[in-house]
Amino acid sequence: SSLQKIALASVSAMAIGSAGQASELRDQALDMFAALPSTIPALNNNIITPEKVDLGKALFFDPRMSASGVFSCNSCHNLATGGDDNMPTSIGHGWQKGPRNSPTVLNAVFNEAQFWDGRAADLAEQAKGPVQAGVEMANTPANVVATLNSMPQYQDWFQASFPEESDPVTFDNFAKAIEAYEATLITPAPFDAFLNGDDNALTEQQKEGLAVFMDKGCAACHNGVNLGGNGYYPFGLIEKPGADVLPPDDRGRFQVTETADDSYVFRASPLRNIDQTAPYFHSGKVWDLEVAVAIMGTSQLGMELNEQEVDQIVAFLGSLTGEMPEVVYPVLPTETLDTPRPTG
Ligand code: HEM
Ligand code: HEM
Repeated sequence: SSLQKIALASVSAMAIGSAGQASELRDQALDMFAALPSTIPALNNNIITPEKVDLGKALFFDPRMSASGVFSCNSCHNLATGGDDNMPTSIGHGWQKGPRNSPTVLNAVFNEAQFWDGRAADLAEQAKGPVQAGVEMANTPANVVATLNSMPQYQDWFQASFPEESDPVTFDNFAKAIEAYEATLITPAPFDAFLNGDDNALTEQQKEGLAVFMDKGCAACHNGVNLGGNGYYPFGLIEKPGADVLPPDDRGRFQVTETADDSYVFRASPLRNIDQTAPYFHSGKVWDLEVAVAIMGTSQLGMELNEQEVDQIVAFLGSLTGEMPEVVYPVLPTETLDTPRPTG
């Protein structure tokens, strides 16, 4: 159970200073976390080629993939602002407010559990969701394919990306190309350099924060490459946060599985670049990372973290902010008279 994992993950506190102690801290950390790989990860059933990545990038930035012609993936996952939209909950089609905060697409390829509640199996499946969601892009697969087929440049790019296929412009391939692009959006951080052997990559306070993060039990749920994104737990495992943070109408994984045990169960959030992606939680109700950390202490661990511990943890979380991918804004294919007109 989650509680057992927390007990197992609880390691003894230590003083940090000398190189020997730094390497002891690293050894402990390597039991729970892993550095980002230095190369782009392989995907299931989706070979990554430069052509496919370029196509996926164009699709990611193309607002004509939405019914209104207004929203692209980048509207809510803005690569200039940490891969999210800095809103409590996203605004989509027809200025509607969606129910949840937009998570970053950066490093999302390493999440084993997708969305706040795990609805999708992988990024390719995921990419099909927002395009069709009424509060996001409000489009249909048929209209996306018609839009793509109306532009010869897109036809060429799909052919070059899926050379074996006779009819490559499909909604499945649209999703695969976006998945390939997203796989390139990875952000190596000082924490990776530390895990890879550089003692000086973290400040003393960040090392203290890392020790506290492991010692208090945060790492029981926030572990692996993304320090989260790989398991589901009740939000409010020990003590349910107030309705201001955890609105009662969104019961999380319960809505997927309809089992009572899954009521208010959410994915332990991945924490890379967390200091870039306020506001916090699926509700997007908390703007201050210190407050979010303190809430985790009471709700998930049943402990009041003191100010120093919160500061140390927040400093450590800062070491998860990586080098942002440099993005050259793509020039998109020109529409033709056959391109479906914006609606709604
Ligand atoms: C979730 C990609 C369009 C808002 C996600 C996730 C990915 C993603 C990878 C999951 C991240 C994670 O689980 O950590 C895309 C792509 C899009 C797109 C490829 C274009 C095809 C949009 C748009 C909006 C939006 C236009 C806002 C109107 C959200 C929200 C979530 C989400 C609110 C969280 C939903 C939940 O967990 O229930 N998106 N997105 N996305 N995206 Fe997008
Ligand atoms: C979310 C940090 C302990 C499960 C978060 C977030 C932060 C965080 C900053 C917000 C992420 C975001 O909005 O993108 C911490 C720290 C911990 C800790 C510093 C230790 C003090 C735990 C534990 C569990 C857990 C022990 C599991 C029992 C979750 C879950 C969420 C979350 C399920 C998503 C909540 C939601 O639905 O919005 N954590 N966490 N966390 N954490 Fe933790």
